[in-house]
Amino acid sequence: MDPILEALDPDRTRPADVLHSKGLSLAFGEKAVLSDVNISFRRGTITALIGPTGCGKSTFLRTINRMNDKVSGFRHEGDVSLEGESIWAPTRNLLLLRRRVGMLFQRPNPFPMSIKDNVVAGVKAHQIAKGKQLDVVAEERLRQVGLWDAIKDRLNESPYRLSGGQQQLLCLARALAVGPEVLLLDEPTSSLDPISTEVVEALLRELTPALTLIIVTHNLGQARRVSDNTMFLYQGELVEHGPTAELFEHPREARTENYVTGRIG
Ligand SMILES: Nc1ncnc2c1ncn2[C@@H]1O[C@H](COP(=O)(O)OP(=O)(O)O)[C@@H](O)[C@H]1O
Ligand SMILES: [Mg+2]
Repeated sequence: MDPILEALDPDRTRPADVLHSKGLSLAFGEKAVLSDVNISFRRGTITALIGPTGCGKSTFLRTINRMNDKVSGFRHEGDVSLEGESIWAPTRNLLLLRRRVGMLFQRPNPFPMSIKDNVVAGVKAHQIAKGKQLDVVAEERLRQVGLWDAIKDRLNESPYRLSGGQQQLLCLARALAVGPEVLLLDEPTSSLDPISTEVVEALLRELTPALTLIIVTHNLGQARRVSDNTMFLYQGELVEHGPTAELFEHPREARTENYVTGRIG
């Protein structure tokens, strides 16, 4: 690599694929959930993860930041790597992994502390900033998710009085505050009203290409609106993945076509 080019664009030296799942099989006890999942996630893209209830979408997502490790009976074979290094590497620091790979859940889950303390909770835990800097971080992240004007006078109040949509945006601000590279979103709008859903969808688009997103959604319209690529899980298998428009309009597999046209749920 030419050192001058490298200095101009440090990203050139990083692999284009930020995450890679290789021969990944997941199970709880005797119950196999997914087998032999092979897929790469390109830096700066949004991937929609679709498939019927119970097909393993959440299990796959939660595995990526090792949230299943402590679940009783959980087993994995194969590997997931982040920037080329296994997420299960013995030298891997779990806290640091979760700083790099953040997560947003179906139900907003603000912590029982003030709105401001929610935004900077991770920033404090990772000692990224302190004192007055925390106010700057809180404002910047609340502005980023479009909440600042609505709640700037309520920073010391409880988050539980905010609307569901605002609570989810607060959780997004909290996830973004630690500067993740990857954000995993498990049906992040399924408890929100249509207007909040639109706000969140628009925000997700703005997060790329700085971040890489994987979003589980039941809403096929949402998958089409927000994602670059789509992966379809069905009965324990990654049936098909590819550019979203192609997968929806010209699926290669009959099972994909049946799912995206609503013939199987
Ligand atoms: N903690 C767990 N213990 C045992 N089985 C689980 C656990 N979590 C999920 N499962 C099972 O794994 C399968 C996939 O679940 P999940 O990943 O939640 O599906 P999805 O998110 O696609 O609806 C289901 O059969 C579910 O019952
Ligand atoms: Mg799920």
